[in-house]
Amino acid sequence: MAQQEPEEQVELSSSTRSHLEAQNLRPLWEVEDTMGNVYDDLEPDIWKWEDIQTAIDNIENDIPIDDLPPGFQRRVTVPINTGMENAISNTIYVGVQTVSPGENAPAHRHGANALRFTIDGHEEMKTVVAGEEFPMHDNDLITTPQWEWHDHVNDSDETATWLDVLDLPLILDSLNSTNVFENHELDRQPVTKTQGYWDSQYGRARPADEAKDSSIPGPFEGNREPTPPYRFKWRETDETLRQRADNDTPDPYDGYSMAYVNPNTGSPPLFPTMSFRSQLLNEGPTDAHFHNATEVFFVIEGEGATHVDGEALEWGERDIFVVPPGTPHHHEPDDEAILLGMSDRPVYEAFNFYTEAEA
Ligand SMILES: [Fe+2]
Ligand SMILES: [Fe+2]
Repeated sequence: MAQQEPEEQVELSSSTRSHLEAQNLRPLWEVEDTMGNVYDDLEPDIWKWEDIQTAIDNIENDIPIDDLPPGFQRRVTVPINTGMENAISNTIYVGVQTVSPGENAPAHRHGANALRFTIDGHEEMKTVVAGEEFPMHDNDLITTPQWEWHDHVNDSDETATWLDVLDLPLILDSLNSTNVFENHELDRQPVTKTQGYWDSQYGRARPADEAKDSSIPGPFEGNREPTPPYRFKWRETDETLRQRADNDTPDPYDGYSMAYVNPNTGSPPLFPTMSFRSQLLNEGPTDAHFHNATEVFFVIEGEGATHVDGEALEWGERDIFVVPPGTPHHHEPDDEAILLGMSDRPVYEAFNFYTEAEA
C-alpha cells in the first residue's frame, strides 16, 4: 500500500540516528513507510477446473497417500494467488483434496478451523469428525471445527474430491501464530457416535433437557460459542435456495443467498474467522459493489463471469476465483448459476472494521 511521502526530506543528526539505532527506536514517518507492505496486494485470479483436475490426476498418479511425509498425509492441490506464497489469500486457504478408493487420510487435529465442501462425493466416502462418520455427498458442506480429530476414509470405489477451506493464512501469517497440531495415535480415530449424532445435538430439533453435548474439545480459553461438527446436506441447502428464489427479492449484489450458520448460535458466521454462503444468480448481472473483506468463490453450478476492477474472470462449473479487498465487482451469470461464497468478513466485523459500498 503506497504511503504518502513526507513533504520534504528530513535529515536527522548522526548522533540522533545512532541513538535511535542503538535503542531500537524509529521515527514514525520511517515506520509508516513500511506498513502495509508485508504482502503484495491480492490479485483478482481464477483457477479453471480442468487445470486443477490435471494437477490432481498427476499428483494422484505419482504419490500414494502413504508415501507422503508423516503429518502431511493429505493429497491436496493448493491455488496460490500471485501476490501470495502459500494460499489464495492472506486470510483464507483453499485446497482441493482427493482420496482414492481404499485410501485413508490419517487422523489429526489442529487449531485452525476447517471445512470440506464436497465436489465428487459418495455415501461410502466419509470424513470422520469428533467420533462420527459423515458421508460426503456432492456439494455437502461439513465442518471440522478447531481441535476436533478428523480423518477421511474412502470405502467407495471412486476417487473422492472436495474443497478444504481453512483460516490457516490468517493464523500462521497474518497473526504469525501457531497452528497447534497433533497426529492421532491411530490412523483412523475410533468411531464413537452413530451417524446423525451431531445433527441430533445441533440440528433443528435438539435435546429438550439441555443435556446437549457441550464437550466440544478445545484447549483455548475464552472460546465463545464454538462451531460444532456439522454436515449441511446439499439437498436441504439447494431446496432453501430455490424457495428463496421463488418467493423473495434477490440481493442486488449477491443474488439469492443462504448463509451457513453456526449451529451453536443459529446465526452466521459459520466460524469466527470465515463466513460461507450459497448464492443463486438467475436474474442477469448483479450491481457492482466493493468491500474491504476478501471473497473467494467456488462455482457449484453454471457459467458466467465476475467482473473485478474491469477484468472479466470467466468461470464455469468447479472453477475457483478470488475477489481482492476493495475492488469493485459484479457477477454476470450466463443463465442460472450457483456459487459458494467464502469471506473473511467476520474478522473485519469483529473489530468494527467492515465497510461495503455500491461501486
Ligand atoms: Fe486437518
Ligand atoms: Fe462482494
